[in-house]
Amino acid sequence: MNALQALTERRTIRLFQQRPVADADLATVINAARVTSCASNRQPLRYIAIRTQPLVDQVLAETAWAALVAPKRTPVPGKTAPAAFIAIIAPADAKPITYADAGASIQSMQIAAWTLGLGCCWLGAIKRENLHNILNLAPEKQAIFLLAIGYPAEQPVSEDVAGDASIAYYLDDANRLHVPKIRLEDLVDWR
Ligand SMILES: Cc1cc2nc3c(=O)[nH]c(=O)nc-3n(C[C@H](O)[C@H](O)[C@H](O)COP(=O)(O)O)c2cc1C
Repeated sequence: MNALQALTERRTIRLFQQRPVADADLATVINAARVTSCASNRQPLRYIAIRTQPLVDQVLAETAWAALVAPKRTPVPGKTAPAAFIAIIAPADAKPITYADAGASIQSMQIAAWTLGLGCCWLGAIKRENLHNILNLAPEKQAIFLLAIGYPAEQPVSEDVAGDASIAYYLDDANRLHVPKIRLEDLVDWR
């Protein structure tokens, strides 16, 4: 799979097979974040690889998934839960530029994971105070985002739509997730 394929074919995964992800693969994924562009090369982010029970389930309880189709894409412990989470750790007083760093790093991890046959869900709807306690973070740190990761148990599809069409993701009758993406000609102003 080349980079363009991974970038265009990757979809967010919210249902996972119940099998572990090798530490070597998690390390490969996090390494992709390590070498990602960041402002002034300051490298303010750190990572916690969470792949042991009961910590995975504890972290899962502090997350919210796909509100538009809830609860059908909310992972269930022991049935459809991710094998692991990667917590992206940032300064508690993170500036907007650090959020940009985190975004770049997470996208790198999503693409690296996809090339390994793994699926991810980037999670921003997280209970940060609870996670701070669960992960025993220093007061000056926060879990800025989580990335759930595991072997996919669903195959979402994207579909191109006009700029004025609905972009709400939805489930079809076969329980397949459809993710509308605004078509290129409605996004780009060529000058
Ligand atoms: C900043 C950010 C926060 C997100 N937070 C959540 C979240 O809390 N829960 C969730 O289920 N998905 C979350 N997502 C995943 C988006 O819902 C998903 O990327 C979007 O529906 C498009 O699907 P795609 O990734 O397959 O293109 C988040 C994505 C981003 C970029």
